[in-house]
Amino acid sequence: MEKLDYVVRPIASEDELKKVIEINMVTLPEHYPYFFWYEHYELWRDIFVVALVNEQIVGYNMCRIEYGIGHIRKGIVRQGHVVSIAVLPEFRRRGIATALMVYAMDSMKKREVSEVYLEVRVSNESAIRLYEKLGFKKVKILRRYYLDGEDAYLMAKEL
Ligand SMILES: CC(C)(COP(=O)(O)OP(=O)(O)OC[C@H]1O[C@@H](n2cnc3c(N)ncnc32)[C@H](O)[C@@H]1OP(=O)(O)O)[C@@H](O)C(=O)NCCC(=O)NCCS
Repeated sequence: MEKLDYVVRPIASEDELKKVIEINMVTLPEHYPYFFWYEHYELWRDIFVVALVNEQIVGYNMCRIEYGIGHIRKGIVRQGHVVSIAVLPEFRRRGIATALMVYAMDSMKKREVSEVYLEVRVSNESAIRLYEKLGFKKVKILRRYYLDGEDAYLMAKEL
């Protein structure tokens, strides 16, 4: 496969947010109201990252920060939550999702986050492999987590 040049950086404008939402609509069954996207854009822009090829957005990773009971660490911890990540089909298997995750996790560390977690469909083998490669572990199963009744793995990693 020929080398692909891409750039990963925080989302920069509301126009980019609209492009991200378009990518979400064609790549994932989980969609959100505009307000939800905008909240992440306003509050957690440094961990809401996009990947660009020839200045066009081809993937995104939208994360947030929460306080909660640790999935790996004990007690109440500051957690990064990967809410939604996707790459357009024609740009997959080039390391873009990996780069989106690494960038967001580096920025989380700067915000003193001590662990990061996410939910993934138990059937989504490609995403599970991506997260395992990055050091995430399956912590528990969330029964009927998705609207269509599918279970999720909750996966987490210490930062
Ligand atoms: C999951 C997804 C984000 C991966 O994006 P990507 O840019 O192709 O991922 P990467 O190129 O960084 O892949 C990293 C590793 O993940 C694993 N992986 C990714 N896609 C895979 C696939 N189709 N089959 C098997 N393993 C896969 C591989 O181990 C890969 O490393 P390798 O290419 O060196 O073998 C992408 O397939 C996608 O957008 N899917 C639809 C949306 C989605 O499912 N999001 C996750 C919701 S929890």
